[in-house]
Parts: sequence; C-alpha cells; structure tokens
Amino acid sequence: MGRAKQNAASDMAKTETLNPDTQGISRAAELLSARRLVAFPTETVYGLGGDARADDAVAAIYTAKGRPSFNPLIVHLPDTSAAQRHVVWSAQAQALADAFWPGPLTLVLPLRAGHGLSDLVTAGLPTVAIRVPAHPLARQVLQAFGGPVAAPSANPSGRISPTTAAHVLAGLQGKIAAVLDGGPCEVGLESTIVALAPHPQVLRPGGATAAALAKVLGLPAQSLSEGAPKAGAQPKDITAPGQLLSHYAPGALVRLNATAPHPGEVMLGFGAVDGALNLSAAGDLNEAAANLFGYLHQLDQPGVAGIAVAPVPDHGVGVAINDRLRRAAAPRP
Ligand code: TXA
Ligand code: MG
Repeated sequence: MGRAKQNAASDMAKTETLNPDTQGISRAAELLSARRLVAFPTETVYGLGGDARADDAVAAIYTAKGRPSFNPLIVHLPDTSAAQRHVVWSAQAQALADAFWPGPLTLVLPLRAGHGLSDLVTAGLPTVAIRVPAHPLARQVLQAFGGPVAAPSANPSGRISPTTAAHVLAGLQGKIAAVLDGGPCEVGLESTIVALAPHPQVLRPGGATAAALAKVLGLPAQSLSEGAPKAGAQPKDITAPGQLLSHYAPGALVRLNATAPHPGEVMLGFGAVDGALNLSAAGDLNEAAANLFGYLHQLDQPGVAGIAVAPVPDHGVGVAINDRLRRAAAPRP
C-alpha cells in the first residue's frame, strides 16, 4: 500500500534526538554548518536554530514553524563581543549586557554596516534582536558552531513555546534535523525584549523585569513599559511584530482569573486557588513561570474543552506570566 512509500519519506525526514554530551554538541554544530535546523535548550525555552547568515537556513526556520515572514527572529551569540559585530553598540547596551548577559534578555539594536546576517532574519527591519543565552548547552553549541544562530522558540507558529525536547518533537518532528535534549528549561518564559532606540522600551515582558532593567539604566520603571503593545493591535502597529495578541495558544480555550472550573474545563491553579495542576502551590512566581508552558501542554488534551486559570499576581515575573496567559486566552484569528 502507500505505507512503504510514506515510511521512506518519514525516514528521510526523521528528527535526530541528540544527547547533552560532547558528541551531541558537535553533531548539533555540524548540522548547523550544513545549514540544517537544530532545536536546542536555552534557559528560557527551546530555540529552533539555523545559521543566521544563510538565507536558505533562515527560510527553512520560517517554513518549519509556519511563521509569517513579517515576524523577525532573535540572533543568538556566545558573548558580548560576538554580538557587537552585528549591531551599533551603545553605552546603554553595554550596561544591560553587563548586568544581564548571559541570560534571558534580548536587545533590539540598529544593524551595523557589514553585519553579515541574512535579511530574512530581520524581516527587512533596520534593527536586529540579539541575545547571549546562559544555558551551558546553548553556549557550547554556539561556541562549537562559531557563528550567529537565528532561533525563534521551537514551536509551530502561534502555539505554546516548548520547555522540553518532547514538546519540540510534538510540534516539529520530521520538520527539523535534530533536537538537543537538555531536559526542562529553568526560566520557562521567553526572554525580555528591550528596544534601545529611540528610547529604552520593553517590547515583550520576560524574566528580566522592567524594574530591574530600569534600575540598571537609571530610569523610572514606568518609562520602559509605556510603549507596550495594546490589545487588538495589528501587525502594522507593533514595534515587535511578534507581539500579536493571540499567541501561545493551546488547542483548548483558556479562561483567566477563574476561581473554579466550569463543566468541561480543567483548572490550572496558583497558590491557594488549587486545580488539576498548580503553577506554584507556594505562590512563587518564578516557579510558576518555569511550570507555565509545560502545564498548559499537559492540560491541553483532546476532549478538554477549556483550561480555567487561577489569578496570578501582576508584579515581577507575574507581568510576563499574565502577558502569555492573556495571549493564550485571546480570540483566535
Ligand atoms: O527566550 C527567547 O527569546 C527565545 C529563545 C529561543 O531564545 N526565543 C524567542 O524567539 O522567543 P521568538 O522568535 O519566538 O520571538 C522573537 C520576538 C518576536 O516577538 C519578534 O517579533 C521580536 O522578537 N523581534 C525580533 N526582531 C525584532 C526587531 N528587530 N525589532 C523588534 N522585535 C523583534
Ligand atoms: Mg515564540
């Protein structure tokens, strides 16, 4: 029957799972050098990596994710001096890099002449988003590869970001060359994205809070979040084009600020408001952030009509948690 033919095709497209050891790291670097796609762990979420200088590799990232090409990618680098090769650096960039790199902060800076990056990475913008991740495996892959790696979160576009290799395979099996399995991600939410021009502005809240960034820059915290995207914003209105309202969507509908599940719903608790799973029974926001995407993946089963989510306090990393929850709950396009 058609079966044999299908097997041959899926064998060709089989995604390798690489172990977190020297061999796995060098295989990841080898595949990246061959302009193939490799998912790898970072401290935030798994990234879907490709050579940021190669149009075909970057185009393949958009294809594998089914990502609209107006949404540019983050370029990952092993250290600050590698980052400086691609952008116009500034005193504010240096201050933030000193305070937060390696770590969950992405800086949007003007492209520098001779930056060498594929135009597809920036989706034609004059700026590029760069980040130096802290995860030891990410750093070892970047060092072994020796070039800039474009890596969006390793999930099909619009779906929940992956915090384990199993999440990556659930969404992208057969569509990418390999996934490097480094276990669960520690932070669990994507990096904070900050644009520095014309003035510092948080484009996406994350583990590095606006208050912590403002402190380093010597600015009032409020001034960094003024430009945050508003509900109902359209791609053309948005400075970070990925900040579409509906995003991170599980298959099941998501209802926020719930104190008990409605019939057909499963409950995702926080603190004293308990549920089938609890983001953090102790009410710890960092623990809740680390659990968020994994628990949404777990609760999002066929037959579950809805996920009711307990209120999460809107301070510290809670701001980033609520940002992702609002997007998961937003009307779908
Ligand atoms: O933690 C993270 O940041 C993860 C890990 C893998 O590093 N990556 C990640 O990438 O979340 P992604 O592609 O899912 O989100 C990238 C975001 C998008 O919202 C995109 O619009 C924004 O970065 N972005 C990229 N380049 C930009 C630019 N030049 N100006 C403004 N926003 C930009
Ligand atoms: Mg993403």
